[in-house]
Amino acid sequence: MKHGWLVAAVFIALLSGYAGFLHAQEEWVSAAQWLRCVSFDASYLDASRTPEERAEAVLSRMTRAEKIGQMALIEKNSLQDLSDLSRYHLGAVLSGFGAKPEPNTPEAWQDMISRLNTQTKETCLQIPLLYGVDAIHGHAGVMGATIFPHAIGLAAAYDKDLVKRIAQATAAELKATGIYWNFAPNLDVAKEMRWGRVYETYGSNTETVSSLGVEYLRGLQGSSTSIDVLATPKHFVANGEALWGTSVNMDYRVDQANVVVSENVLRNVHVQPFKKAIEEGAQSIMVGLNAWQNKRLTEHEYLLTKVLKEELGFSGFLVSDWYGVYALPYEQEESLARAVNAGVDMVMLPFDYKAYSAMMERLLDRGDISEERLNDAVRRILRVKFRLGLFDREAPVRSDLAVFRNNDHQRLAREAVQKSQTLLKNTHHTLPIPASTSRIFVAGSAADNLGKQSGGWTIEWQGIDGNWIPGTTILEGIKQVASSSTRVEFKQDGHFPGEEFADVRIAVIGEKPYAEGVGDDAYPRIEQDDVEAVKELRARVKKLVVIVISGRPLDVAPYVHEWDALVASWLPGSEGAGVADVLFGRAPFTGKAPILWSLDRVK
Ligand code: BGC
Repeated sequence: MKHGWLVAAVFIALLSGYAGFLHAQEEWVSAAQWLRCVSFDASYLDASRTPEERAEAVLSRMTRAEKIGQMALIEKNSLQDLSDLSRYHLGAVLSGFGAKPEPNTPEAWQDMISRLNTQTKETCLQIPLLYGVDAIHGHAGVMGATIFPHAIGLAAAYDKDLVKRIAQATAAELKATGIYWNFAPNLDVAKEMRWGRVYETYGSNTETVSSLGVEYLRGLQGSSTSIDVLATPKHFVANGEALWGTSVNMDYRVDQANVVVSENVLRNVHVQPFKKAIEEGAQSIMVGLNAWQNKRLTEHEYLLTKVLKEELGFSGFLVSDWYGVYALPYEQEESLARAVNAGVDMVMLPFDYKAYSAMMERLLDRGDISEERLNDAVRRILRVKFRLGLFDREAPVRSDLAVFRNNDHQRLAREAVQKSQTLLKNTHHTLPIPASTSRIFVAGSAADNLGKQSGGWTIEWQGIDGNWIPGTTILEGIKQVASSSTRVEFKQDGHFPGEEFADVRIAVIGEKPYAEGVGDDAYPRIEQDDVEAVKELRARVKKLVVIVISGRPLDVAPYVHEWDALVASWLPGSEGAGVADVLFGRAPFTGKAPILWSLDRVK
């Protein structure tokens, strides 16, 4: 042991030499990087050049690592360190529903996006970040946003101009927070009523889905030459007709399930709305998590590349859905290769973006993904970023936020609510309720509940039951709109002890909020507490009006013969007074069910 000290000293010397070498290496790398950055020809920043020219110019300057990062769409909460945005050259971030800033205010959203954008500027090429959210019925992840009726209600209203104006209003609230990418419209054609996503759709009819979907896209994107807010028609394709019980997700039944229809049906019923959207300038399309004839869409080269890109001429980028590229029945690296080779251009989402980058490097080294495919994907993404004006836009300022749920937006949402109310039954001239009515009793779990009337994708992915968001409940709406001489009283359980007399009683009942496969339900029906509340009301009144808040038809057959009027209200959102407007005849009933709602039986 007498040489112990000497061995230790040599070891330490070697170690520090190695550390010094590493340090020098790092300095050398950053010096090289610095040189690369300062010697850059930044002519792609010249806004007078076409998006195509500018995209080519950026692409030709990108390293492989930068290209790999450009293809990633990561979830905001998976970002381990803000500086990883620039370190891994990440091209896009999304707020999975519920991933919001604290506090959840429009101001905090604006600040959050601005912080991320500043970090992205710390790169040589300064390629702006694309930030996406699911503003499917307004910018509804933000507390204080205008919550419009879900798409199923807009389909009942079937007013194209209205849909366009709603998309424009949503775009205005998005832009005020610095967000230019919306995962909407939903172009699924809903044929399976037990699916938890029926309400996100424009119903069962391909024509309706196409025409309203396209109108929404127009409203968001604005002119065809420069895009205002990027729309994302989804989910390609056909989950609306998937087979019950075949979902790849063990907790779901229809969502992410297998579709067995023929190619003819697939094309005529389900691909058609996407064809129209592409003709109208769709620049990003989301690939569904479902399968067609047992092959997942995420790896379906025929449908993604041959049909969408080559046959239908889609020139934008295809983004996979939530973790879709890793959900294929192979190990991760192979799944990723299959998805990208099938045509996926942007990968949602590598939670672990470091592992994703390393996998992509290996796949490219081995030639499992070609440089050509890599360049094609990145070119598509860059072109859209230029068409969207991301390189040239001014960041929003505080005063832009005044647009949130402003009077115009509230009026617009209320108009949409009025137009979507669908009268399914009306006997004894029960509706509209005359102004001379002296007393009205209101009951039901959805009467005084903004969460229920807004449904899923409101603040949280699964929505929130209760009064947490700003807005007007249906009960408040009834109180506002009823004539000043009408007394309106509310008991959720419908039990008004000692109060025997009321001309009209209104039950507002319905589904609890849900989203995606969580809402798959073998038997969509009225909950027992609402059944009891309606019974209480019925026992003591001549005229009973039932309003159903739901995302799909509920089985009312056992009870409807006892009701004088039945209104399908769908999921009206934050402006509940629109329901009252039609109840009292301030606006006519014009809604028509966009899906089959049989009063006799539900499929
Ligand atoms: C849904 C998509 C949504 C995405 C991002 C997925 O779970 O299927 O519709 O756009 O999440 O939030």
